[in-house]
Amino acid sequence: MILLDGKKTSADIKEEIALDVRELKDNGLKTPHLAAIIVGHDGASVTYVNAKVKACERVGFESTLIRLPEETTEEELLNEIEILNIDNDIDGFIVQLPLPKHIDEQKILMAVNPDKDVDGFHPTNVGKMALNLPTFISATPFGILELLERYNVETSGKHVVVLGRSHIVGSPMSILLSQKRKVGNATVTMCHSRTKNLKEITLQADIIVAAIGIPEFLKADMVKDHITVIDVGITRLADSSKKSGFRLVGDVAFDEVAKKADFITPVPGGVGPMTIAMLLKNTLLACQRKS
Ligand code: GUN
Repeated sequence: MILLDGKKTSADIKEEIALDVRELKDNGLKTPHLAAIIVGHDGASVTYVNAKVKACERVGFESTLIRLPEETTEEELLNEIEILNIDNDIDGFIVQLPLPKHIDEQKILMAVNPDKDVDGFHPTNVGKMALNLPTFISATPFGILELLERYNVETSGKHVVVLGRSHIVGSPMSILLSQKRKVGNATVTMCHSRTKNLKEITLQADIIVAAIGIPEFLKADMVKDHITVIDVGITRLADSSKKSGFRLVGDVAFDEVAKKADFITPVPGGVGPMTIAMLLKNTLLACQRKS
């Protein structure tokens, strides 16, 4: 069994990005600048956004964090987005999700300039991704493609089963892996909460991408031998023995599934760190596109 080490791979990618940034600076070109907007104080979101800002510092990017209170109106948030849209120094920015319930998420994502949409959530960029045209691929699916590529996991002709149909992971992952691309050419089955006979389907999979948000959902009896498993789940379960008061649990019962796996991602240290590295990669691309 080979562990798909996202921590190490993302560190490698960040090192490559840092070298590119150094080269831009040495050539008198612009330093990439990522901005993030966070509304409210959801614990997990604050942690993720802080990690993104810290990662910017590590690779030599400029970063701007805009914290807005929970009561921020949709109009106020749209104003902040417009400021970032027209600020020439900002190469890319993200609006951390989820947003408070009184704000229409779709309206917000559509307000982001597609050229600065390093999350790849704008419908224009989702459409380009679906058509296999150059665009920003969302960080989580992009990170999974990169992890599979760097560990030489064969996807061509394989049966990939994606668990979950979210706009952020399940849906783009299904589209990307079925496309004609370096990591792609797979036969993809997408399963979700209404899928019947799920176990019959997962037992046919060569590769499973688990992105349903149910801790330890995928058990050993649901997979065949030599499976490759990508675990996108990160649920915080209360655990008083931890300093943080919680432990992170994926969508896969790791210990038992790992025994049958050729390749598997751990949680934490698998897909999570890759996501941040690919957000940086998209920001670098946005900056390079301009110069
Ligand atoms: N919330 C969970 N994942 C993401 C992500 O990739 N980008 C943003 N903006 N919010 C998220």
